[in-house]
Amino acid sequence: MQKTILITGGAGFIGSHVARRFVRNYPQYHIVNLDKLTYAGNLENLSDIENEPNYSFIKGDIADQAFIEELFSRQSYDGVIHLAAESHVDRSISGPMEFIKANITGTVNLLNAFRKHSEGRCDGKLFYHISTDEVYGSLGNEGLFTEETAYDPRSPYSASKASADHMVRAWYHTYGIPVVISNCSNNYGPNQFPEKLIPLAINNIRTNKPVPVYGKGENVRDWLYVEDHAAAIDLIFHNGAVGETYNVGGNNEWRNIDLIKLLCRIMDRKLDREPGTSAKLITFVKDRAGHDMRYAIDNSKISGELGWNPSVSFEEGLDRTVSWYLENERWLGGVLSGDYKSYYSKQYLER
Ligand code: NAD
Ligand code: TYD
Repeated sequence: MQKTILITGGAGFIGSHVARRFVRNYPQYHIVNLDKLTYAGNLENLSDIENEPNYSFIKGDIADQAFIEELFSRQSYDGVIHLAAESHVDRSISGPMEFIKANITGTVNLLNAFRKHSEGRCDGKLFYHISTDEVYGSLGNEGLFTEETAYDPRSPYSASKASADHMVRAWYHTYGIPVVISNCSNNYGPNQFPEKLIPLAINNIRTNKPVPVYGKGENVRDWLYVEDHAAAIDLIFHNGAVGETYNVGGNNEWRNIDLIKLLCRIMDRKLDREPGTSAKLITFVKDRAGHDMRYAIDNSKISGELGWNPSVSFEEGLDRTVSWYLENERWLGGVLSGDYKSYYSKQYLER
């Protein structure tokens, strides 16, 4: 079936993997990638598909209401897969307003435009909102986030994503627009901007810089390989039930310090360093304000109802990820721009 699908945030980390997957797997779809190209958006992530006949790119800001209105009045979209967001907790602590604009206002602008231009013809259409497990707050040593867990966001980032989730559900209940939401745990893999833990550690180890570990490194995250998330998004877009929420996780919990030590061992091996060399770079730094202790996902709904399970082991995924960063120094050089340098020195060097 022919469809025109708007992917927002397609030039970012997860969005680029989703856009590539849809362009390659569904030649009958036309994929329109809408992205503002913030510091985190990079068209180089999509250079291998940019000339495909079923792909096009539009530069624009979802927080710009007039622009979004215009976009939807020019073209009708059968589906929206909404990934565009400000996505980094640390940046949300130092500058929350951008998160309010992009994540809340931006989402509402899309919902309004989708509603207005779909009025009376919603059949088969879908607004798919991609969210995070961070909306559920912080777990202690026990327990898992289910789709029924009450929202308890604690950072400006997670609060802005939680607000967006509520807006999406409100537009479903109030205006009847067909929506689906998924809340995923921490992704890792190629093309992730090197301010998030795994690519930042890989890059710092590569360049012999200190690897900053917040607090005692005891916080726990669940890690999912980005291609597995893209596969879950594909499945939910096509088979998810309208109005439903699906949690997506890797069944793969790691304390930060253990993860960093594992990465150090992999880097020693890949860089032919003496075992133990990279671990000497581990540096404990001041903890993040309001640092959530633990995230962990109960996958049973998506696994039982849609048959999705993570397929890439952590060992395999980390190996692929490290290799990708080591083989793509040009990409790294390109994204380690003026913005990154000033962010990095503010975040880590002025502490
Ligand atoms: P990212 O920061 O790598 O990419 C975000 C993209 O959105 C960038 O290309 C950026 O240019 C674009 N963007 C930002 N503001 C915009 C605006 N106002 N208008 C248009 N485009 C804009 O983020 P990511 O890690 O790929 O995350 C994508 C989505 O998945 C986000 O909604 C995030 O909340 C969610 N998510 C991420 C993770 C994770 O571990 N990275 C986990 C769960 C959910
Ligand atoms: P991050 O990749 O920013 O993802 P999130 O905050 O969305 O989970 O951080 C992952 C974990 O790693 C989190 O507990 C914070 C910690 N962390 C560090 O210890 N050092 C760092 O330099 C960064 C960026 C994160």
